[in-house]
Amino acid sequence: MLGTTRPARLSPLRRPRATLVSGLTALAAGGLVALAFAGCGIVTPGTVSTVGRVGFDRPLVIPPLAESTVGADGTRVFALTAQAGTTEFEPGVPSETWGFNGTFLGPTLVAERGERVRVDVRNTLDEPTTVHWHGMHLPAEMDGGPHQMVVPGARWAPEWLVDQQAATLWYHPHPHGATEAHVSRGLAGLFLLHDEAERALGLPGEYGVDDVPVIVQDTGFTAEGRREAAPRGYAGALGDELVVNGTRSPYFEAGDELLRLRLLNASTARSYAFSWGDERPVRLIGTDGGLLDAPVELPYVRLSPGERAEVLVRLTPGERLVLQSRMTAEIAGLVGPVAQTNGAADAFDVLELRAADRLRPAAADPAALVALPPLGDGEVAADRRFVLDDSFEINGRAMELGRIDETVTVDTLERWTIVNDTALPHSFHVHDVQFRLATVGGDPPPPELSGWKDTIYVEPETEYVLLLRFTDYADQDTPYMYHCHLLWHEDQGMMGQFAVVEPGQRATMPEGTDHDHH
Ligand code: C2O
Ligand code: CU
Ligand code: CU
Repeated sequence: MLGTTRPARLSPLRRPRATLVSGLTALAAGGLVALAFAGCGIVTPGTVSTVGRVGFDRPLVIPPLAESTVGADGTRVFALTAQAGTTEFEPGVPSETWGFNGTFLGPTLVAERGERVRVDVRNTLDEPTTVHWHGMHLPAEMDGGPHQMVVPGARWAPEWLVDQQAATLWYHPHPHGATEAHVSRGLAGLFLLHDEAERALGLPGEYGVDDVPVIVQDTGFTAEGRREAAPRGYAGALGDELVVNGTRSPYFEAGDELLRLRLLNASTARSYAFSWGDERPVRLIGTDGGLLDAPVELPYVRLSPGERAEVLVRLTPGERLVLQSRMTAEIAGLVGPVAQTNGAADAFDVLELRAADRLRPAAADPAALVALPPLGDGEVAADRRFVLDDSFEINGRAMELGRIDETVTVDTLERWTIVNDTALPHSFHVHDVQFRLATVGGDPPPPELSGWKDTIYVEPETEYVLLLRFTDYADQDTPYMYHCHLLWHEDQGMMGQFAVVEPGQRATMPEGTDHDHH
């Protein structure tokens, strides 16, 4: 495709691997924690809490809606330019950041099921990047993974038909070895899909008014401005402060009694357990790939990097309500020093909601949302097993751009079992599809994992059985990715490639790669 080139070489940003792996091995082997930390630049264990210490003195920035035009053929066309710039998180204190059509984060794209969309992507950075449509069902060539690199100065114009349920999706770069750096510098945005079933429910839907994007990232600040999260635990770089939609210390003024928050964990390594400061239950209505069949009330919503949640919250006039994250070792499924050093004891004040003295009333929440048909069983075409290990490999292999790991036949149902063989946090994300969980640790999935998902947190010593149906797009020449969405792990090679092919076809090596050195 014009304007694309071969994948990037290893990024200089890549941290040395050998030292960390030996550190991990020491820990896994029961070695001294102190030893494990020595030599890999990981900061000493500690916990962070910003609870009660956030001033909530800045209005939440709402990412602008992306402009679009609809051409004669009905295709909705967006434009995204990756650019470098400076952002003032504190007035008068510029920080160097990256963004799409701006200096930090990107606009929110909105499309309707059944619409054809095209995004004119331009890279004005001085290094290659990509734009991946996380959660989107689309042809592999349009996916924006590491095989669709956009070099500096180049353009890339993927297009596809939006054909999936209403959902909160997102986009971010995916250059192999540098995804963590590109996302943490600010390249990320939301991609919202609507459909008839969603509209019929009458859920809050006025963007930035009662339908509020909440993009959560951890970072840090000094008097000189923003500093990127620092390597801390095995999860990767953890920041000691949060920004929401790029806003430090944010509050949101609500004029509506009922709000719908679209939570996106766009952090590179940190997982959150979102809950309300007054301990009211969290009313979850949607997960990664769409709405649940009915709202569920939970004490907290756990989101690992890349996961999304839609929640409803009902306010009373004049009230102030704080969204927090209070992670614990138990919630993270981690034990001992691993929990401490990977943010599993950290707590944050995230965002304050300030209700006006008079609120626009809202109808009662719908008791039922959308139908969640079972993906089916008894007709599984292939069973695959993916073991996540402590060398940042999957099934004992590190990512190779020139190697296809799995070949899937189009329009079949598959069952994938994901196992985390370590005491460390990992996650699992699959491109192209929204999947469903058959079981978690042998049991039926809890309500928050019973809907459409594209990314799951994978606790140590728990088996996750996924059902996936790969429909529509076969392409023997271009693979999709599956990977741990802790971006440092992904960059280290905790990723694999699958091709979706017609029955009887074989996948070929990805074209144009110079990485076929297996
Ligand atoms: Cu959100 Cu393969 O990524
Ligand atoms: Cu993805
Ligand atoms: Cu991982």
